[in-house]
Amino acid sequence: MPDPELSYFELQAYIGTTKHMGGFETTKEIIELCHINKDTYVLDVGCGVGATACYLAKEYGCRVVGVDLRKNMVALSDERARKEGVASLVEFRVADAQDLPFDYAHFDVALCESVATFIEDKQRVVDELARVVRPGGTVGFNEELWLKTPPAEVVAHVKRAWEVRPDLPTADDWREMLKEAGLRDLVVKTYKFDARRESTQLKRYRFRDMWRMFSRTLSLYVKNLDFRAYMKGQYRLPKGVFQYLGYGLFVGRR
Ligand SMILES: C[S@@+](CC[C@H](N)C(=O)[O-])C[C@H]1O[C@@H](n2cnc3c(N)ncnc32)[C@H](O)[C@@H]1O
Repeated sequence: MPDPELSYFELQAYIGTTKHMGGFETTKEIIELCHINKDTYVLDVGCGVGATACYLAKEYGCRVVGVDLRKNMVALSDERARKEGVASLVEFRVADAQDLPFDYAHFDVALCESVATFIEDKQRVVDELARVVRPGGTVGFNEELWLKTPPAEVVAHVKRAWEVRPDLPTADDWREMLKEAGLRDLVVKTYKFDARRESTQLKRYRFRDMWRMFSRTLSLYVKNLDFRAYMKGQYRLPKGVFQYLGYGLFVGRR
């Protein structure tokens, strides 16, 4: 069971799935924009339950290191790598995106899907990814943003529902952060919420993941009053939020 004090990430770890806006289709797009192939050494920062890292190893045969702040996410990632038969290509460890335990220029590509969104000092995260990538290598982010200025109540609700403590940037803010980190040849693509694209989220997962997600959510809902209250009160985003809330791909070359 998750901690008595329910939190967005503890719930995701317990249910066994993590996600980002834009689903699997956006993962595939960021992989293409970063030119990943079998010889690319990749770092996936804030890897969650390891779905993207394992997909990369399986589909491309490349070596991947995934890091996450939470021990339980790393344990789930290790389990996934074993079950998917890619444990010899991927390695997971606990680390903070703001202080990566790797040398300068260690990787060819560093990815980050919906992680910096939750961190106050985003510039530090961008700088860290840029630092650990070799000159000529690529850094890619898929992160949430405001498409236009939202009313204060929308901001407050999104922060509560997703436990996003810091303010969300705009696409221009993201572009400036990548420039500030010394990245060049920037590619910036912004997206509105699209239900079809979001539904591809599930394609990163296998049937047994979906079963665990479904059965654990149902059992928490039936047995845990706090969870029920949490789902009713917090987890839902306010109506009309997607006029304002979107996401973007930000890719740059070191
Ligand atoms: C929304 S989930 C996305 C996970 C994964 N990238 C995916 O797309 O499925 C955000 C992840 O970032 C991790 N995280 C949050 N803050 C972090 C930090 N400072 N350093 C590393 N990971 C962090 C969380 O534990 C969580 O697994």
